[in-house]
Amino acid sequence: MTKLQSTSDVSAIVLAAGLGTRMKSKKPKVLHQFAGRAMVSHVLSALTEAGVTHKIVVISEDAKGVEEAVAPDPVAIQRQQLGTGDAVKSALPLLDENASDVLVLFGADPLISAQTISRMIDRRQAPDNPAVVVLGFCPENSAGYGRLITDKDGHLEAIVEEKDATPDQIRIDICNSGIMAIDGKRLKSLIGRLGNDNAKGEYYLTDIVALAREDGANCTWVEGDADELLGVDTRADLAEAERLMQIRLRQRAMSGGATLIDPDSIFFCYDTDIGQDVVIGPNVVFGPGVTIADNVEIKAFSHIEGTTIAEGAVIGPYARLRPGAEIGQDARVGNFVEIKNAVLGHGAKVNHLSYIGDADVGAKSNIGAGTITCNYDGFLKSRTEIGKGAFIGSNTALVAPVRIGDGAIVGAGSTISKDVSGDELAVTRAPQKAVEGWARRFRTDRQAKKNALKK
Ligand code: UD1
Ligand code: MG
Repeated sequence: MTKLQSTSDVSAIVLAAGLGTRMKSKKPKVLHQFAGRAMVSHVLSALTEAGVTHKIVVISEDAKGVEEAVAPDPVAIQRQQLGTGDAVKSALPLLDENASDVLVLFGADPLISAQTISRMIDRRQAPDNPAVVVLGFCPENSAGYGRLITDKDGHLEAIVEEKDATPDQIRIDICNSGIMAIDGKRLKSLIGRLGNDNAKGEYYLTDIVALAREDGANCTWVEGDADELLGVDTRADLAEAERLMQIRLRQRAMSGGATLIDPDSIFFCYDTDIGQDVVIGPNVVFGPGVTIADNVEIKAFSHIEGTTIAEGAVIGPYARLRPGAEIGQDARVGNFVEIKNAVLGHGAKVNHLSYIGDADVGAKSNIGAGTITCNYDGFLKSRTEIGKGAFIGSNTALVAPVRIGDGAIVGAGSTISKDVSGDELAVTRAPQKAVEGWARRFRTDRQAKKNALKK
């Protein structure tokens, strides 16, 4: 009986050298993003989640930016796009010599789950030790897919590309998703024997099944879910990938104990990390790097990225939290408030119409409506430091760098450019003048002038 191997012996080759012309883009196809990251990164992370650590991404020579995006995973260059078999061949020099199993996936088929990858590995490592395990599926429309040719016992005999298929073969519903798990010991020899005598004149990876059968080896297939096997070729496919991924992410948030008032209008990022008893209102959008503790409420129409929110905080409606925002326990961020690279202490409140950037706001401080931290002089950014229990009156401009001490009060309408000590009152408002009866005299005078003009 074959010993079960650990996933550390499994390597993966992710093919991404195709041209992607239908995206109509200057950017390599696999760098187009959904749910906050590049397509190819979704594939690589599903592999990592399945425990596969050795990964190689095959790209074309002119694929700018892919190498940086997938680092530290290495890339292999396929100089000419001669087919999927040739693409795998270009990765062989980087492949771990001791790999027991080699998975082949497509960088533009980004919805594959870690569970399905594990299922493929388990099937490959089962006692009958098939040389090739193909992930098959039954798409609604089979046009363009290779068909799986099976014998009466369900073993896989060959994969026939649609362009090379007989009318009978075209009627087969089980299609090749493109994903395979291959015996690492046989891969080199199988790839070395591929030819290109076919309708497309390409080296088809799919031909390794028939070659393995000629060697007397067994090949098989497992069935996958069409929702995981969408291939992205166009912008419309990309939008469909986003839609399907959002369904998963919403499900994940809800099974983790969050209430989503209108799930279909909430957009998560692949890494949105949400605690229990979090309530999220309609039309909330998350960018990358958001962590939300338990019992947080996020009200409608908020946009949040690169932010940590501590327990009990209430955000929005219409709040914008940008990278580097750290919202303390029980803090409040209200409507039309933008916070960037700033820390709000425990119980601090910024409830209306404010910009708090590059700042520290101490515990229990209250920031009045229309407060602006003037953090940028056109060249450099500076910090505003507000102590604990301070009170900033409405419509205050805090010209950074500036410090407001614990318990200080700033009068409404002030422009604060010098530090304010603890418990001090600072106010820069011009003194108020009172002129008795002035308004009445003004109205009488104006009305008289207007009447004279009408005559
Ligand atoms: C391939 C399969 C087909 C399967 C279908 C599923 C082959 C011969 N056919 O066909 O059986 O049903 O996928 O979507 O494998 N690539 C390279 N270098 C190349 C050619 C392709 O890296 O020279 C990459 C592409 O970037 C893409 C993947 O391989 O990620 C598949 O290539 P594609 O041209 O889309 O193959 P299909 O004709 O769709
Ligand atoms: Mg394709």
